[in-house]
Parts: sequence; structure tokens; C-alpha cells
Amino acid sequence: MSESYLTTPIYYINATPHIGHAYTTMLTDAIARSRRLVGDSVFFLTGTDEHGQKVERAAQKAELPTPVFADRVSAAFRQMCSDLNISNDDFIRTTEPRHHAAAQEIWRRVQRAGDIYKGEYEGWYCTVDEIFVPEAQLIDGRCPTCGGKLERLKEESYYFRLSKYQQPLLDWYREHPDFVQPEFRLNEVRAFVEGGLQDLSISRTSFKWGIPVPDDPRHVMYVWFDALTNYLTVLGFGSGDAASEERLNRLWPTVTHFIGKEIVRQHALYWPAFLMSAGLPPPQRIVAHGFWMMGGAKMSKSLGNIARYQDYVRVFGLDALRYFVMREMPLGQDANFSDEAVLTRFNADLANDLGNLVSRAVTMIHRYREGRVPASPADTRDTLDRDLAAATDAAIESVKNGFRTIQVSQALQDTWALVRHVNKYIVERAPWVLAKDPSHAATLDRTLYQAADTLRVIAALVEPVMPDAAGRIRQMLNVNTAEPWTSLRAGTLAPGVQLGAVEPLFPRIEKTVEELRSMTTPDETTPVPPPPRPTQAEAPPEVSAASATDGRIAIDEFMRVDLRVAKVLEAEAVPKSKKLVKMKVDVGSEQRTIVAGIAEAYPPDQLVGRTIVIVANLKPAKLMGIESNGMVLAASTDGGLPSLVAVDSSLPAGARVR
Ligand code: MSP
Repeated sequence: MSESYLTTPIYYINATPHIGHAYTTMLTDAIARSRRLVGDSVFFLTGTDEHGQKVERAAQKAELPTPVFADRVSAAFRQMCSDLNISNDDFIRTTEPRHHAAAQEIWRRVQRAGDIYKGEYEGWYCTVDEIFVPEAQLIDGRCPTCGGKLERLKEESYYFRLSKYQQPLLDWYREHPDFVQPEFRLNEVRAFVEGGLQDLSISRTSFKWGIPVPDDPRHVMYVWFDALTNYLTVLGFGSGDAASEERLNRLWPTVTHFIGKEIVRQHALYWPAFLMSAGLPPPQRIVAHGFWMMGGAKMSKSLGNIARYQDYVRVFGLDALRYFVMREMPLGQDANFSDEAVLTRFNADLANDLGNLVSRAVTMIHRYREGRVPASPADTRDTLDRDLAAATDAAIESVKNGFRTIQVSQALQDTWALVRHVNKYIVERAPWVLAKDPSHAATLDRTLYQAADTLRVIAALVEPVMPDAAGRIRQMLNVNTAEPWTSLRAGTLAPGVQLGAVEPLFPRIEKTVEELRSMTTPDETTPVPPPPRPTQAEAPPEVSAASATDGRIAIDEFMRVDLRVAKVLEAEAVPKSKKLVKMKVDVGSEQRTIVAGIAEAYPPDQLVGRTIVIVANLKPAKLMGIESNGMVLAASTDGGLPSLVAVDSSLPAGARVR
């Protein structure tokens, strides 16, 4: 059995949690659950980062004493853990005495190593990100990370000899190429370190809300020096208690820190340097995910463009939210959060693919076999059965691997490939036809068994991401406990089991995006300012004077065109027209009618079932008296026949094209 220590960042408490914090916490939770399923013992930590000027000011604004304010907002993050079904083992608050002891202990160790000296800091500070910003990194006089205003500081400060650790850090990166995931993030940090390191200011005197520097309480510790230490606090570091420090020896440094990409430098550079100075090994791994974007900018409480996790849990259910964020964001990349995207995935993946499979399979066993899982003797299985079992075993391996390598989106795609496989298997077998003829009883038995057995495996595979849905599927299958992944394989469902009642897993949501929007928009107390300036790395190309006149457009102009994958459900020629076809298409969140001038190239019967691309946000137009809601994309040469723009048919209806 191996041991895993997993952490989320500890969140600032200047405002309440949003989808961004919820995401890191849910992702870490899914990984923690997957590790438990493979038999690891897991210690999972999250919590709140409560010191610093930003929090002190937020408390003043709320007209509350800072400790009272801290208690309230920290409680909202603790509540988030319970609302999101997070399986954390501890919740650290940096205002706790155990953390004061740990932060002061690491300070003393670093001091004993000769790495702290007193000086004066004069320069820029970003209170939003709680970072010092060297003059050379300013962008138009603003913070390079958040685009916000900076403050000029001039005060006495203790410094950490970060420059001394340039070579040890470079050596560490070289010897640990998988220190940061994805790899390109390590390359960024390495390049920064290679550029030379300046010593780091690690104390402040101009405010009081922080941990006092040992033996010099006029200073409070720089909030990042204090905050990073939380990862050691919970292991008993600095407690002076041998029993709790035993945990430190066991679990450090086999830790994985899950963080957003904006705090890689603090985790992959400052943190290992502090640790090396204190005589402790750096953490084993740092996993940095991308940003949830909303309205073209990083979702952020400082900017106000946030989505509240509570609204999505209320409308879609917790497991659907967990599924959406983990499916939608591949590791390391940014993703857009929108009502449309959540609705599309909900209806396509959860209601259609998985929900229908569950109700179909369980209903048929009730209908044709009085709710008892029939037997499927191995020697009677044919190619279809064997293919399904092989696909099931292959999916188990790839999903396990996906979780091991933190490719959760990929693991879910692999699971859904299996869901679609069983759906196809059922359609090909057509149990409703087999049931009509008693001579097909054995084939029907096998079909029902294979469907139920694969469903059992699917429940186990979605367990880390959707523990509740997994439990509900198991209940219908009358399987009592979550199956460990160590023994999970196709064909082990016991025949003869009496199934539970059919229960709709994810009933389709028939609301329009507009209806949903009114249910999920932030309340008035959360002002939404205009989208901020994008950060340097993410800035879309500027519209230069030249591009404004040469016909080229800026990325945001292109992004206004809502291109979507659609599935053609029905098609018929428009009477009295040579060119027009009337189609009913599925765009994920709804079905609509589109009239397109492609009849000469595509007879209607060749269109049904195709995966096409449409412009989804065109104003409706009437063609030959029929209202068309959207436009089909097709290419053609002058005078030539149109050829439909094609995309991979495995994409769900509603997927965005850009
Ligand atoms: N307190 C520091 C972390 C100290 S760790 C020793 C901090 N706190 S924070 O409240 O700003 O939380 C930042 C983290 O929240 C990100 O690193 C990420 O995990 C999560 N996210 C906040 N907004 C996010 C997005 N818009 N998108 C994705 N994750 C986001 O930094």
C-alpha cells in the first residue's frame, strides 16, 4: 500500500468561494478518491489562507473586526467542502495556533541556516496577488499577473537569500523532470530561475494581520512565507510533539500540490527554496491546472466575473457539476465556463448517454426477466459479447491510467467511449426484438447480463468524479459497496441478483439557456465589472491600425460567431425549390429547424445522421416561407456544389467550434 498526501491551495478569504476554487477542490477530491480505490492510504488537505493586507482590507470594508471576518469567510470555504462532497481529512486555517507554531519554526530554521537578513524594501506590491513586482515586470505600470494597480512600498523588511538557491533549484529541476505537471510549466519556472534570482522580501511592518516574526514582532511574515508552510503544519511540523511529527516523517515529501497556474512560481520556486534552507526536501509534485474563464477573462473574485458553484449544484445537481468541470478542462489548459456549455454536456453526456443507458438496461431486466440478472455462460458468448467485455477491460486500464497521470478529462472520455459502446451493443442486439421469440431466450439473457455487468463497471469508473451517481447506479444493480479498482474487471456481476427499482439518474433539462441564465446569474451584491485587460500571456492580438483597414478581424470579433456541432435528425426537400433542404438538427441544448441550400449536393436521406457545423447565433430568417434558425457551414468553389464542413462524428451535438 502506498501513501498519498494531496493538497489544494489554501484559499484567500477576502471573498467567498466560486467555481475556480470549487474546481481545484473537486479535482483534488476526485484524485483522492481514485487513489483510495486503488488501495492507497490518502491524506487530503485543504483550507484557508487568512493573513495579509488584502484580507485585512476586506474586513475593514465589511466593517468587521478582522478575526470575526476571517471566521465567517473561512466557514464559507468549509461549507463548500461539505456542499461539494469533498473527502478531505483536514482543513487548515492559517490563523490557528498550530500554524503559528509551524510558521515560526520554519522561520527559525531558515534563520539558523543564515538565509535571513534585514534590509529595506522599496518597490511595487500587488495586494490582489500578494506579490512583490520588480520594476522590469510592470506592464503599463500595472501588475503583470492580474492587471491591477500596484502600491509603492518603502519599509524595513527581512529578506530571504533566494539568490543562493539558484543553482540548487536548477539542479533539482534537472534531477526531477516531472516535478511540475504539465511539463511546460516547469520550463517556464526554469527559464525564470536561469534569468537570475533576487533575494525575496519576507516580512512587512506596515500592517499587523499576520504571524509575528520570531523575536521581532514589529514585523509580520510575508503572507506566502506563512501560507506555504501550511502543508507542513498539518503533519505536525513545529508542534514539538513526537507522535504528530511521525506523520511528517511518513508523508513528507511524498506530496502532490494541486494549484492553479498563476501560483506555480510560489510553489515550484519559493517553496522548494524555503524547504531546502530549512533542511527539508522539496515536495514531490506540483500539478498546475488552467483557468476557468468567463466573459473572456479569468474568473476571479477580485474582478467580479464569477459563477457561484451553489447555483449550478441547485440547477444541475452536484455530480453533474463535478462531471462538467472535470470533463471540460483538460489538464493544464484554460476552459470557458458558461450556462450553455454546462447544459449541453448535461443533456448530451449525462441525460442521453449515461442516464438512458442506465434506465434502459435496468428497465429491460425488470420487464423481460422480472428484475433478476440472468446468467451469461462464458462458452455461449459470441463476438459482440466478447468485444464488449474486452472494451470494458481496456477502459478499466485506461481510466486507471488517466487518474494516475491526472488526465481526468481523458479518463472520462474513455469511460464515455464505453458507455457508447454498450448503447450500441444494446441497439445491435435489440433485446425488444429478441424478447418476442422464446428461441432467442439465451441471447437475450446474455445481452441483459452484459449490459448490467458493464454498467457495474461504469459505476465504478465514475465513482471518483460522481460518487453519488455511482452509488445510485449501484443501488439499482443491488451492488452494496463501491468496488475497489484493484479487482475491477468485466464479467464478475453475480447472476441471479434482484435489481432495485429504476430511478432516473439525470433527467433531461428542457430549459433554454435564457431560462437557465436567470437561475444562475450572480446576485446583485456581486458587481460584474467590464472584462479586465487580459494578462500579457493571454492577450489576444491587438487590433493595429493596419489590421483595422486590411479586412482582418480581432479574435473577439470572431468569437462572437457561435459555431456549434449539430446532428441532423431529419431532412426533407423544400417543395418547389431545387436547392433548399429543410432539416431538423440537434444542437445539444435544443432541436431546431434550419433551411440550407445544399439539396443539389446532398439528397435529404444522405443528410440524416450527419455531424455538421452550424452558426448557432444567427437571427432567424424565412426561406420559402420556412423559418430557418441558423446556418449550415459548407465550402464551395465559384459555381461548384457545396461540400459540408465536417467534424469528427464522435463530438456531441452542441460542442463549440472555434
Ligand atoms: N492563498 C493563495 C494560495 C496559497 S497556497 C499556499 C491563493 N488563494 S486564492 O484564493 O487566490 O486561490 C487561488 C487558487 O484558486 C488557484 O490557484 C486555483 O486553484 C483556484 N482558482 C481561483 N480562480 C480560478 C479560476 N478562475 N480558474 C481555475 N482555478 C482558480 O492564491
